[in-house]
Amino acid sequence: MAQKLWEKSVQVNQEIERFTVGLDREMDLYLAKHDVLGSMAHITMLESIGLLTSNELATLLEELKNIYSMAERGEFVIEEGVEDVHSQVELMLTRKLGDVGKKIHSGRSRNDQVLLDLKLFTRSQLKEIAEDVEQLFNALIQQSEHYKNVLMPGYTHLQIAMPSSFGLWFGAYAESLVDDMLFLQAAFKLCNRNPLGSAAGYGSSFPLNRTMTTELLGFDSMNYNVVYAQMGRGKMERNVAFALASIAGTISKLAFDACMFNSQNFGFVKLPDECTTGSSIMPHKKNPDVFELTRAKCNKLQSLPQQIMMIANNLPSGYFRDLQIIKEVFLPAFQELKDCLQMTTYIINKIKVNEEILNDDKYLYIFSVEEVNRLAREGMPFRDAYKKVGLDIEAGKFTHNKQVSHTHEGSIGNLCNEQITALMQQVVKGFNFSNMIAAEKALLGR
Ligand code: ARG
Repeated sequence: MAQKLWEKSVQVNQEIERFTVGLDREMDLYLAKHDVLGSMAHITMLESIGLLTSNELATLLEELKNIYSMAERGEFVIEEGVEDVHSQVELMLTRKLGDVGKKIHSGRSRNDQVLLDLKLFTRSQLKEIAEDVEQLFNALIQQSEHYKNVLMPGYTHLQIAMPSSFGLWFGAYAESLVDDMLFLQAAFKLCNRNPLGSAAGYGSSFPLNRTMTTELLGFDSMNYNVVYAQMGRGKMERNVAFALASIAGTISKLAFDACMFNSQNFGFVKLPDECTTGSSIMPHKKNPDVFELTRAKCNKLQSLPQQIMMIANNLPSGYFRDLQIIKEVFLPAFQELKDCLQMTTYIINKIKVNEEILNDDKYLYIFSVEEVNRLAREGMPFRDAYKKVGLDIEAGKFTHNKQVSHTHEGSIGNLCNEQITALMQQVVKGFNFSNMIAAEKALLGR
């Protein structure tokens, strides 16, 4: 069995090891590429302050690039008996290069190393999430424009209420994503500060150049105070989880609407056949399982901030092993949300709407307010008009031509999709992914 980084004489009991390592050997695979990038920046800085020679640096960087490529190809493994990604990378360097591999950890602790890995991983995932949100946004706006003249019933209490339109329905979810995106951007900015150099949580007596690693890794700034940098573990994940949960909340509501409107009793939309699933017993079934799974996954994602808070709450400042467990719920969440975003976009692009819903007279009463407003415009006091229309309905005498003319901003006749799109573009511009991309490319010499 490989020796632990910290093991001196007494060997750790195997059961204790199984328990403390937990799922880390799986979870840390998410972090492998980022751990390598972090090490590249760290040792470049170590050379600049005289803790490595330039030859040592060059040899180490070359081997780290190889390890990075292995991770890209999915060939990086954390071996049996090795605790985590940090130990595995150091072990590989030492095996290949000898003693120089053991020099890379000066001025660093696994506590700031894992903080850094999590931030590098998270910011790259947030970029992908932002791109997927934008795709879904575009699909929604396109459908909103396409069906802007098709009316549908609007509901309150699930009782038919007022005229709505497919333009409004699709556009509402697009605008919801604008606010979610703003939240995501705040999470990205909180994440994009460098914790490296905080070491075990109290800094180091080596004269580390933290500005240098901040620039090498393309962070907006560092987390200056080393105690605060360590306090960011759990806080960053929680804040990002809130942003993910906000997106998930939008999608789960959309998924519920889509399932309901696709039911025969509504029949407002038709999901593409290839996006539905059959039944083992009922030959006619075309079930909206994709949106049901999306709804459940997105509801689960909305519990992520709470899960993280339950793990990290009531910890004082300083590192605790409790924080390791956050990785188990946090790291897989990104792929889950991306899957939901991509599936939803695929279906929204193909969904068909029923342009004839309002031919069914059970929806006639959605126009009752239109009729009241028409009488009021003609001079009848609103309360009298309300009463007259109410009495007509009771007497079975209510009629309406099923036309509406709503003109104010954000209404059926004036969706403001251009303004909503402008809001989204403004948020998208505020992200600045270019520094992180350029920095990572430069480190890898690509
Ligand atoms: N696996 C650990 C974590 O995720 C890495 C840091 C270990 N540090 C320690 N002091 N035991 O937190």
